Amino acid sequence: MTCISHSVAETEEIGHELGQRLGPGTVVAYRGGLGMGKTAFTRGLARGLACQDRVTSPTFTIVNEYRGRLPLFHFDMYRLDDSDALFDIGWEDYLDRGGVCAVEWSENVAYAMPEDTVYVTIERHGEHEDWRVITIEGGTEA
Ligand SMILES: Nc1ncnc2c1ncn2[C@@H]1O[C@H](COP(=O)(O)OP(=O)(O)OP(=O)(O)O)[C@@H](O)[C@H]1O
Ligand SMILES: [Mg+2]
Repeated sequence: MTCISHSVAETEEIGHELGQRLGPGTVVAYRGGLGMGKTAFTRGLARGLACQDRVTSPTFTIVNEYRGRLPLFHFDMYRLDDSDALFDIGWEDYLDRGGVCAVEWSENVAYAMPEDTVYVTIERHGEHEDWRVITIEGGTEA
């Protein structure tokens, strides 16, 4: 599915709709460069999972956890570029915890994404500063 977002609010809304549909154990892997709106999308995703706490970027902590309808584990893999580091943060354990793992900079750990990962790609759209093309694909749905 591909849609166009014209604002931060719209990106959050698209995240919200996806969040409402996610089941336990889902990995949502973002693709797209700096400032494309991955954290904004995750704020909506968290709302769709009925998480109450405010989502902030896990850039320095690598992973933030939120309680909701399902737990949300929000990763930022920007600084992570080898498999030892992924092992150290306990990636495999998070996968087994029955929550939703939302992964910013999944490009850095592409090899570790499960087969049924939901990919969310966010790109600029044309000349417009605030426009984004958001493509959601993968997962187990047909
Ligand atoms: N349509 C849009 N969707 C999302 N963000 C937008 C949009 N238009 C403008 N923005 C701006 O782009 C920025 C997105 O920031 P955000 O932290 O969500 O990006 P990110 O992809 O997580 O970046 P990083 O790679 O640094 O983690 C914000 O400053 C936001 O205001
Ligand atoms: Mg971010």
